[in-house]
Amino acid sequence: MSSMKPLRLAVVGFGKVGRVCAELISLSHDLSVAAIVRRAASVEGKLPETLRSIPVTTHIGQARDVDAALLCVPTNAVEETAEQILRRGIPIIECAKLQGAALHAHKEAMHKLAIHHKTPAIVGAGWDPGALSVFRSWFALLAPGGITETRHHTGSSLRHTTMALSVTGVKDALCAEVRAVDGRLQRYVYVELQEGTDPEMVAQAIRADPLFLGEDTQVFPVESLAALEQEGRGVVLDRRGSPGRFGHQHLLLEARFDETVLTAQVMLGAARALPQLEPGVSCLLDIPLNLLWGEHAEQAERRWL
Ligand SMILES: NC(=O)c1ccc[n+]([C@@H]2O[C@H](COP(=O)([O-])OP(=O)(O)OC[C@H]3O[C@@H](n4cnc5c(N)ncnc54)[C@H](OP(=O)(O)O)[C@@H]3O)[C@@H](O)[C@H]2O)c1
Repeated sequence: MSSMKPLRLAVVGFGKVGRVCAELISLSHDLSVAAIVRRAASVEGKLPETLRSIPVTTHIGQARDVDAALLCVPTNAVEETAEQILRRGIPIIECAKLQGAALHAHKEAMHKLAIHHKTPAIVGAGWDPGALSVFRSWFALLAPGGITETRHHTGSSLRHTTMALSVTGVKDALCAEVRAVDGRLQRYVYVELQEGTDPEMVAQAIRADPLFLGEDTQVFPVESLAALEQEGRGVVLDRRGSPGRFGHQHLLLEARFDETVLTAQVMLGAARALPQLEPGVSCLLDIPLNLLWGEHAEQAERRWL
């Protein structure tokens, strides 16, 4: 393995994406967390055990030897935060969730900033925009003139269940089939309850229904089904080329994933590519894939080419 000095990254904003970025970086050999930059209101917050030795600051200027910053702040705070960091000549990577015209306008604004401060910046380095944009573009390139359909669905096999909905006190319910370790099929029913409803009564009513009778059925009351659905997301990208002289091309990508984790993985890849980039803005479509592998580029090429 190469003995190059690890890239020192500041993680700015310690929410869902920031936390996973910090944890993945600390598990890697070629990257290290220079600092976690938080708002004053959160700076006293406790870090997970594995990250305790990392300095936490309220300002990037207080962190030492920062090679690049991963912006993990809310989309509407990205430009302002980027400005403050680029101004110090520190490259940034962000994954702001913008689409279409808004994303283009944002990329242009960031380009101006990055050029002005003679520093590279990577925008849209997440899942979508990000890796999924690359898949979309490749699908269209391979099957020109066709149509792309994108269907979003919940991850696991979560689906709505009308039976549970008929139980008094249940606002909404999702059901999943889960294989237990010993291979038995179990049903998990997640319920959002009206205030004052007894979860045990609900569980009994669901288990007694003919639909669930004789099955191993577990009932879990949750605060928000929407949040649960968000946790395990899925997407199907379906590209059908136009039928014609060259036959019919059909490309399908089915993905089930945790969006936060995939986004963090992309941000780390982007960080590895940064040292090779010129000042100005790049998005994932601009960056050669090999660069995202950093010091593992040769190995990855041998394996995946
Ligand atoms: N491209 C993709 O596929 C994708 C997927 C997921 C997320 N994202 C993007 O990633 C970013 C972070 O998402 P997330 O899910 O991690 O959000 P989050 O859980 O809400 O975390 C954002 C963090 O930013 C800090 N923060 C909050 N308000 C702020 C403000 N006004 N100014 C500066 N910092 C502020 C907070 O950290 P402290 O308390 O530590 O200050 C907060 O925990 C967003 O821009 C989101 O759009 C992109």
